[in-house]
Amino acid sequence: ATNARTAPLRLLIAAPRGFCAGVDRAIEIVERAIERYGAPVYVRHEIVHNRFVVDSLKAKGAIFVEELDEVPDGVPVVFSAHGVPKSVPANAEERGLDYLDATCPLVSKVHRQAERQVEAGRHIVFIGHKGHPEVVGTFGQVPDGAMTLVETVEDVAALSFGPDEPLAYLSQTTLSVDDTAQIIAALEDRYPAIVAPKADDICYATSNRQAAVKAIAGECQLVLVIGAPNSSNSLRLVEVAQRMGACAQLVQRGTDVDPAWLDGIDTVGLTAGASAPEVLVREVVDRIAQFRPLTEEVVRTAQERITFKLPRQLQD
Ligand code: F3S
Repeated sequence: ATNARTAPLRLLIAAPRGFCAGVDRAIEIVERAIERYGAPVYVRHEIVHNRFVVDSLKAKGAIFVEELDEVPDGVPVVFSAHGVPKSVPANAEERGLDYLDATCPLVSKVHRQAERQVEAGRHIVFIGHKGHPEVVGTFGQVPDGAMTLVETVEDVAALSFGPDEPLAYLSQTTLSVDDTAQIIAALEDRYPAIVAPKADDICYATSNRQAAVKAIAGECQLVLVIGAPNSSNSLRLVEVAQRMGACAQLVQRGTDVDPAWLDGIDTVGLTAGASAPEVLVREVVDRIAQFRPLTEEVVRTAQERITFKLPRQLQD
């Protein structure tokens, strides 16, 4: 046992992990807005769900609020990557506020599909997590009552639409790929004519990070996922690792790692949600190295080259 405890720990680091193109863009929008307009720049809701990111932007002059009525007149405001209901930019315009929309273009794509389905006379079944800001934003693209939320296969069984009701489904971008496939199968089983989105609404970053953690979790007794408790895509990474039989822990930063977790363990996996910066990955690796000598191995399952353009107002 002593031998096992002192033997080098094998650390498997998943790739892709961490920041996606939408998060990169959202952070850059806040930084550039501060450069262009000067501090303070207001941000409605956490720009991305990560305290470390939010705190570093605060230090540069960003002020975070939950609602537009907390933003004083005459200062610029940024909307977070998760997207906002239509009423928010409408309200900003009424007040003459300068606003910058950091909604991820892949979320906006779902917003436009929602509008189109409603125009085509279809009711939308939306797969997502109740209360998540992305869900609130997407519901706010269409009139009240035009969209129904389902979170589980059981919710699908409880739907009461008639067989001839024109339906379409859409989803949140940061869901579990496997759970969503089951929910979609249940929907198509009950409503064979339901219209599917043109392409999967779960974004490339969400599915790549889930596939990457799946590739390592089977070899790990413990998987650490760096992310915030309100980060949907990070929580899904914990579930994926657990379903592969690993013990999985969500950690926000290095100090969250309990040395007791490493007792008797020889292989640890590490990944990070789409809103968690790479510096936190290094911090967690350094923290583990304080307790055990380790060997690092990066296991890459996909390359990502996607980037998104900044809003027109911020382009040079
Ligand atoms: Fe966008 Fe997906 Fe990231 S929807 S913000 S690319 S997790």
